[in-house]
Amino acid sequence: MAEILIVDDDPQLRQSFGKILRTEGHSVRMAGSGEAGLAAVQERVPDLVVLDVRLPGMSGLETFKAIKAVDPKLPVIVMTAYGTTETAIEATKMGAFDYVLKPFNIPALLDLVSQALKAGRFMRSKVALDAQPASPQEDALIGRSRAMQDVFKAIGRVACTDATVLIRGESGTGKELVARAIYQHSHRSFGPFMVINCVAIPETLLESELFGYEKGAFTGAVSRRMGKVEQAHHGTLFLDEIGDMPVSIQAKILRLLQERSIERLGGRRPIPVDVRIIAATNRNLEEAVAQGRFRDDLFYRLNVVTLTLPPLRERREDIPLLAEYFLSRYAAEMGVANPGITQDALQCLMAMDWLGNVRQLANVIRKALIFNRGFPLENADVRRAVGEEPNGEELSKGAKDLAGLTAALDQWILHQLRHGVAERLFDALVDDFSARVIRLTLEMTKGNRTHAARLLGVSRPTLLARMEKYGIRVEAAVAS
Ligand SMILES: Nc1ncnc2c1ncn2[C@@H]1O[C@H](COP(=O)(O)OP(=O)(O)OP(=O)(O)O)[C@@H](O)[C@H]1O
Ligand SMILES: [Mg+2]
Repeated sequence: MAEILIVDDDPQLRQSFGKILRTEGHSVRMAGSGEAGLAAVQERVPDLVVLDVRLPGMSGLETFKAIKAVDPKLPVIVMTAYGTTETAIEATKMGAFDYVLKPFNIPALLDLVSQALKAGRFMRSKVALDAQPASPQEDALIGRSRAMQDVFKAIGRVACTDATVLIRGESGTGKELVARAIYQHSHRSFGPFMVINCVAIPETLLESELFGYEKGAFTGAVSRRMGKVEQAHHGTLFLDEIGDMPVSIQAKILRLLQERSIERLGGRRPIPVDVRIIAATNRNLEEAVAQGRFRDDLFYRLNVVTLTLPPLRERREDIPLLAEYFLSRYAAEMGVANPGITQDALQCLMAMDWLGNVRQLANVIRKALIFNRGFPLENADVRRAVGEEPNGEELSKGAKDLAGLTAALDQWILHQLRHGVAERLFDALVDDFSARVIRLTLEMTKGNRTHAARLLGVSRPTLLARMEKYGIRVEAAVAS
């Protein structure tokens, strides 16, 4: 739940938008003018401001500047009507998180609100290095092992430069935390921190998301749109999962790194941008280069400063520290007393391999805490919690993809809605999924349709009809 301030002179819009945000669980404050909005921010800084650019009296742009002067890290989403887009773009260049066009597309707006809130948290909640955090809400990078101490030193060294940084490490080793720490300790910490997850966004949309487009660049491009790279001007751009970036887009990122400029889709002139790039991946980039999936020139450009995060099993001495940290953090979050943990249980945790790394350990502690009845966590509690966790390999392949998938799916659906790409979106989605599920099930049953129908809980004729509809065939040899 967050506190959101709506600044708009249209009472009807304030009311209806306020209602939507409240339904989402946010608390909402409202102001009918720039002056009132500024006063509200001065009184208490909210988590997000949604600001109309056209206001009577103090203009939207003036209000924006004044609000930013109170708190430069306060995310602001600017609302604009057709015809005032340029002002909104102006505000975005000056550090507004993003802008939306009226009339709103509610799901897209809510998506943007949650992105902005997340960005605000990223920018404001400090990542403490090598220390117990000052408060349970604060994130911390924990680790006394030699390997982690080296990581902290490296963060300190690179943070103050503008060097491109590549963060490598297995899934769950803390790459995102390290990216935030570098940003926060850099002289760009007052500028924006924009995150792009290269796997979560389909290729066709990733390009416009990154680089934006000019009006008329493609059907549906009704007005100019700035991309995340431009929005990160004077700030930091975090390209997460860069190892999964499509080759066509890699070329454009390379150009950004070499020439410090971008071109919007359908644009004819390069636009200079000042961004610091931090990239992360759990992929083996050397292998990807050898296989032609990753451009070697981009790899060399990115590989200037590389931070490699060690897997947890190579720094077991950090496990007790991390366990205690998560225990006190989650206990505080759940509003229960920290029950503590026995030496035995700590030994047990230290003996494990943690293929899902710190994320898996954190999940195990959280689960153990949920079932806890107030006694210190014991061996058995820990084992039970571990048993409920998928093992590391499944985690890094399956579960992680699944977690990424829902996020990716949400993104994709929102984009479809926003740009009206598919004509019969609902049917298209449902068909796509049904076909996928059927294919996978048939694969699993080695083509046995009777078995597949039973697994899916549909009748055999229904399954056959669907297979026909989606053009799914099974090899005659394995047919039931
Ligand atoms: N050294 C650490 N100290 C405290 N918490 C950590 C540490 N490393 C990771 N975490 C926590 O573990 C979880 C996973 O970290 P993060 O998301 O940064 O991993 P990642 O390397 O980006 O993983 P992936 O490749 O799956 O995206 C987060 O909740 C993060 O806060
Ligand atoms: Mg990550």
